[in-house]
Amino acid sequence: MSVNYYLNLFLSICSIISGLCDSSDPRSEQGYPTGLMSVCPGSTKPARIPRSQLKYLLFVVQGLGQSRKKYTYWAARSIAKDPRINFQRKTLLLALGYLDSTNFPISSMLANEYEARDYNVIMVDYQRFATVHYYLASRLMRPVGKHIAEVLTQLTELGLNASKIELLGFSLGGQTVSYIAKNFQRFTGRNISKITALEPSGPCFRTLAPNDRLDASNADFVEVIHTNIDGYGMAARMGHVDIFVNGGEYQPSELLLYPCTSTCSHFRVLALWVSALKNPGKFIAIKCDSIQQARDAKCYERLPTETNLMGLKTNRSNHGIFYLSTSKGYPYYLGPNGLNSEYASWKQISYVNDNDDDEIYT
Ligand SMILES: *[C@@H]1O[C@H](CO)[C@@H](O)[C@H](O)[C@H]1NC(C)=O
Ligand SMILES: *[C@@H]1O[C@H](CO)[C@@H](O)[C@H](O)[C@H]1NC(C)=O
Ligand SMILES: *[C@@H]1O[C@H](CO)[C@@H](O)[C@H](O)[C@H]1NC(C)=O
Repeated sequence: MSVNYYLNLFLSICSIISGLCDSSDPRSEQGYPTGLMSVCPGSTKPARIPRSQLKYLLFVVQGLGQSRKKYTYWAARSIAKDPRINFQRKTLLLALGYLDSTNFPISSMLANEYEARDYNVIMVDYQRFATVHYYLASRLMRPVGKHIAEVLTQLTELGLNASKIELLGFSLGGQTVSYIAKNFQRFTGRNISKITALEPSGPCFRTLAPNDRLDASNADFVEVIHTNIDGYGMAARMGHVDIFVNGGEYQPSELLLYPCTSTCSHFRVLALWVSALKNPGKFIAIKCDSIQQARDAKCYERLPTETNLMGLKTNRSNHGIFYLSTSKGYPYYLGPNGLNSEYASWKQISYVNDNDDDEIYT
């Protein structure tokens, strides 16, 4: 008899003697692991960027058929006059991750999609400050965020409407956008309209209080996509809508024999987001009661099923923790099949065992 049989038997007895097993699960609200690099001593110590170094904080504007122009921290006036910018449209500000720069492909991958959807696109390039020891980089994102907010504030004085600003951050950039938004609130008394955080960094941020990292209070609407919560990402709820893709920790692999481990799962969020932009309405996530329930893929059992969409069509009034099932390969979406647990990737993998027990284990 299988382990599963005994587990089910145990769970049945549990539900009969109700209450007995309710408190027997030692896992906390966020689940059991504390995660990679949970605590970085001194990580909330103030960091400062000398004025002489501000020349390394760059603003790259993209538009007019993927052409780009680079501006410095002091050039808000020129940015506002750039022919690629039109303040009648929405403006996307993109913040990249650790070690990354606007010369590398992730920036184009995301910027091209937003440009195609008629956004003004401004990418911040702070590679100089993100290419130092990670402990220091995570601290430097505070002043970096503040200085970016200074430029955004000047742009609002030149015609940019706060309710048309969206911030998109990946990994360390997913925490940087929080510092941008908080300082923008402080300087203008206005909210950024939307923050999309793709796998906001967990290392050095996991145990920080909400005012030291991304939080739902940072903007009118904050959407967070989690794909590697115990590795490079972070398990805590940080937005109005938090989507835990395939449980949030590991993503399914296209290769049957080789898993998608931390780095693979962390970066998977980029391909998922691009696909969500290209395929609106196709990524349907199911609401959960807790992060643990999302980790355990138990949200299918929560009735009646409540859903929300990942992408630009998210219902901003439907807040909560969501579980999103995907397929193993691009474009990843399952459409309405995602509401059926039979299509969950982990289930498909367990079928391989169930059907061919003897072949595999002899
Ligand atoms: C900013 O945009 C909002 C929503 O599009 C609009 O209601 C508001 O009037 C705009 N504010 C200014 C100063 O243009
Ligand atoms: C800004 O957004 C937060 C969170 O969404 C909200 O609680 C707050 O009232 C907003 N502030 C303003 C000035 O709109
Ligand atoms: C958005 O979500 C709210 C809250 O769950 C719900 O009342 C509303 O009907 C939803 N809107 C749409 C367009 O589905």
